[in-house]
Amino acid sequence: MAFLEIRDLSVEYKTGKDTIRAVNGVSLDIEKGEILAVAGESGCGKSTLAKSIMLLQPVKSGKIIFEGQDILQQKNLKDFRKKVQMIFQNPYSSLDPKMKIIDTLREPLKINTDFSKDKTDEIVKDIISKTGLQEECLNLYPHEFSGGQRQRIAIARALVLQPEFILADEPVSALDVSIQAQIINLLKELKEHYNLTFLFISHDLSVIKYLADRVAVMYLGEILEIGKKEEIFYDARHPYTKALLASVPSVNREKKTLLKGDLPSLSPSGCPFHPRCPECRQICREKHPNQVKISDTHFVSCYCE
Ligand SMILES: Nc1ncnc2c1ncn2[C@@H]1O[C@H](COP(=O)(O)OP(=O)(O)O)[C@@H](O)[C@H]1O
Ligand SMILES: [Mg+2]
Repeated sequence: MAFLEIRDLSVEYKTGKDTIRAVNGVSLDIEKGEILAVAGESGCGKSTLAKSIMLLQPVKSGKIIFEGQDILQQKNLKDFRKKVQMIFQNPYSSLDPKMKIIDTLREPLKINTDFSKDKTDEIVKDIISKTGLQEECLNLYPHEFSGGQRQRIAIARALVLQPEFILADEPVSALDVSIQAQIINLLKELKEHYNLTFLFISHDLSVIKYLADRVAVMYLGEILEIGKKEEIFYDARHPYTKALLASVPSVNREKKTLLKGDLPSLSPSGCPFHPRCPECRQICREKHPNQVKISDTHFVSCYCE
């Protein structure tokens, strides 16, 4: 049993006459203590996947099994809500502008625990220093901080309840590149210190290359390829993964644009990637490929294998 098991998860949005399959039959396992990154272009369903795991988005079908229990069937979610926290892309919108940082950080403890005020404040002070901020910050408001500092505060807020699992949705994408590295390093340190498990969402493969243990490549709501970081970066099998890698300057020095056109919002028949695939064959247009095993940890959904 893995720490988190997602089984055949589907989430749909209805817009007018169209149904967008934002998450389409996703299955994956996350082991305790690992960082699983989800990569893919904007609009491929990464945020919807994270929101559905956080129970912020209704699910059409499938299972989300956390520590052996299907949370979609469970009535008492108190334990789950303490153990699973999310960090969002934009720290400003996830912090209440009218609340001092100390109150923002006290709030989850007030709601979820019966700790005394002293104990609460002890935890708050400890966590703010662990995220690299001074205690004086606690009496300030969100607008008094830079973007990077605000993301440190949002990280502190996610950690006050001592969660085990963090869903991080593009947590550095809104920050300057120089600040991104600091926040990524902070997440790495905190992961080691608290033995955290991460689902780390990013469209930025250079960030993923630095941070992830395993990588899932998502396209039109589906996982096209999943494997250990080395398997994805040095032995990619799916034409989409190869195209994504070829477009990253730090991964591939001769920047090539293999990826033509934009991500459509509706899935075509056959392989979801076939209309943009440089290796498309007749069968790719007609029949959805099955997942092929490359190694015990590396799987790809493509007829090329
Ligand atoms: N609230 C919504 N209503 C309708 N469509 C949505 C909504 N949120 C996301 N979508 C659509 O679902 C797909 C996946 O979106 P999202 O999960 O935000 O992708 P990502 O995080 O990878 O950019 C996209 O086609 C997007 O336009
Ligand atoms: Mg998103």
